[in-house]
Amino acid sequence: MSSGSGKGKSILFGEHFVVYGLPALAAGIASETTAKITRVRSFGWKLVDNRPAMPGYKEKKYEEQKASINKMLDHLNIDVTKTGFQIDLGGDLVCASGIGASAASCVAIARALSEEYSLDLDDDQVNETAYIGEMGYHGTPSGLDNTASTFGGLIWFTRDLSGGPPNFETLKLGKPGNLVIASTGLTASTKVVVGDVAKKKEADPAWFDSMSEQYVQLVNEAREALIDLNFGKVGELMNKNHALLQEMTVSCKELDHLVSVARETGALGAKMTGTGRGGNMIALAPDEATAKKVAEALKKSGAAGVWTTKFGL
Ligand code: MEV
Repeated sequence: MSSGSGKGKSILFGEHFVVYGLPALAAGIASETTAKITRVRSFGWKLVDNRPAMPGYKEKKYEEQKASINKMLDHLNIDVTKTGFQIDLGGDLVCASGIGASAASCVAIARALSEEYSLDLDDDQVNETAYIGEMGYHGTPSGLDNTASTFGGLIWFTRDLSGGPPNFETLKLGKPGNLVIASTGLTASTKVVVGDVAKKKEADPAWFDSMSEQYVQLVNEAREALIDLNFGKVGELMNKNHALLQEMTVSCKELDHLVSVARETGALGAKMTGTGRGGNMIALAPDEATAKKVAEALKKSGAAGVWTTKFGL
């Protein structure tokens, strides 16, 4: 029997823009998915998915999950027509769109397979395998989610549009940031939402260029503000990033509602995170006490799940 794990993540800046080669900032969170591989006498693989999840999440993602596992097996040249195994998924990462659940499971499975089949994959190879796995969930992953899940920490990430390895660096902050994550309980398909953005970009390239220009300025300011520990400024920029995502039509009324509640109850800023059209939002709090207050308000206002975490350690 072998095991592996992958961390959840939260995109602080840059979902969707990152697909087009613009920089993004993502934070690994403490919760993780674990995978256990046990050989069985029959052929093929079987999945036992015990991850905690938002209602409907696992059913909606199951076909993509099967494609993802098969892609990783192909990539690693593991032939399941000769030996079979069972994958048990678990851990404390609650599966919801926007928390990097698919990437965390790919990383966990890649690590467990590496151990079980003595492949000795290093983190870069785990990351590459998980990227292939992410392609089962959507055709054009930026690689941000699997990189954040493999390495954790606060990362500044840029996709290599020519298909080379991702460019990323880990930022360490002098003081951690306090984040509140809240789920709408709705599961979105990354493939569909990313596809819709591509259509909008194609229909109006000038509009997309102007959005991209605004975004690049904003994310560079955010990086500086984070390093300067100017969390007030970071919050302001999160609000601006949310407005751009609204204009991109990837937010929704449920996300906008949670974002407003967080802002009204003491958050320095709030935005949707990840794919959008459901999934999660994040709010930046000035301190732990305010994070708790914001979390309580989000729970009362109908969030399907609320978590507090720290980033930048
Ligand atoms: C999904 O968590 C983030 C997106 O930017 C897609 C990607 O980066 O592959 C929407």
